[in-house]
Amino acid sequence: MNNDPLLAIFEKNQDKFVSGEQLSIALSCSRTAIWKKIQKLTKDGYLFEAVPRLGYKLIGVPDRFDMVKFATKLRTVRLGKSQTYVDETTSTQDLMRTLITNGAKEGRLVIAESQTLGRGRLGRSWHSPAGKGLWFSVLLQPTVPLRAISQLTLLTAVALCKSLRAETGLKIGIKWPNDLLIDGKKISGILLESMAEDDRIQFVIAGIGISVNLTQDDFPVALHPIATSLRIATKNHVFSREDILASFINEYEALYDTYLLNGFSPIQKLWEQMSVTLNQHVRVQQLNQTLEGYAVGIDEQGALLLRQSNGDLIRCYSGDTDR
Ligand code: BTN
Repeated sequence: MNNDPLLAIFEKNQDKFVSGEQLSIALSCSRTAIWKKIQKLTKDGYLFEAVPRLGYKLIGVPDRFDMVKFATKLRTVRLGKSQTYVDETTSTQDLMRTLITNGAKEGRLVIAESQTLGRGRLGRSWHSPAGKGLWFSVLLQPTVPLRAISQLTLLTAVALCKSLRAETGLKIGIKWPNDLLIDGKKISGILLESMAEDDRIQFVIAGIGISVNLTQDDFPVALHPIATSLRIATKNHVFSREDILASFINEYEALYDTYLLNGFSPIQKLWEQMSVTLNQHVRVQQLNQTLEGYAVGIDEQGALLLRQSNGDLIRCYSGDTDR
């Protein structure tokens, strides 16, 4: 039996219309209040057919992430083996911090069906509606100095790009440092947060958002020119979120192990092959200045190398590129 009294009524009346009047009597509220509740449920991924004089019929429920299905696809030894799944949280990054306080170890995976305060790079917010995307954090504990954090950021982007290309066949590229794009629109974002002591990393929380099955209507209008989803990019193909996440975590562990064994250089090469930023003139917006130049590569710290018109080579350690 559903906890939501309105959904409980629809559950009892499967495949039947229930009028607004019946609903308002059953729940002792106005028909406007019922309409508002229906709107809220629609936002959460429920689908209703509304017919004048007949009322509403529930015709679809939101997709819920299936942890068992995910676990059967996982081929890792450490990453993702221990999992926490919640319906809703402020941010999976916050939840992971709490779990660290309670003793969480490397590899812990936190997945939320929706986030109320999802955050992105540079203080931006991250749109995280229920049942349509993958909003998750992975805990890493590498024994590397704090300055290696940007290498881990690029490593995360490479693993994500590689696995999403394999799962979808889409031409996905990496915009420096770690945005994943399809035809210039963002499909996924990565936010690494770390805790360190005496220049040694204690924890890295890798937070990743993938817009999997969102439709155009699921995005706020302001994001329409800059954001897309796997579903929109494939003309309405609905993807298995379990397959996508398992494929990423499998790739992530493989690349992470390569990095711990052989250093950044193999990752650097892969990043350069997958990049859509290199070999063109770019502008990098930083906090107080804009840098410009021809993007020729990245260095061993993950900084973007820009050749300026006077021949000088400059390094960008942070910022947002225009391509
Ligand atoms: C960006 O592109 O600015 C980074 C976006 C990162 C979003 C993910 S969703 C899961 C995790 N929890 C958060 O609050 N943010 C990251």
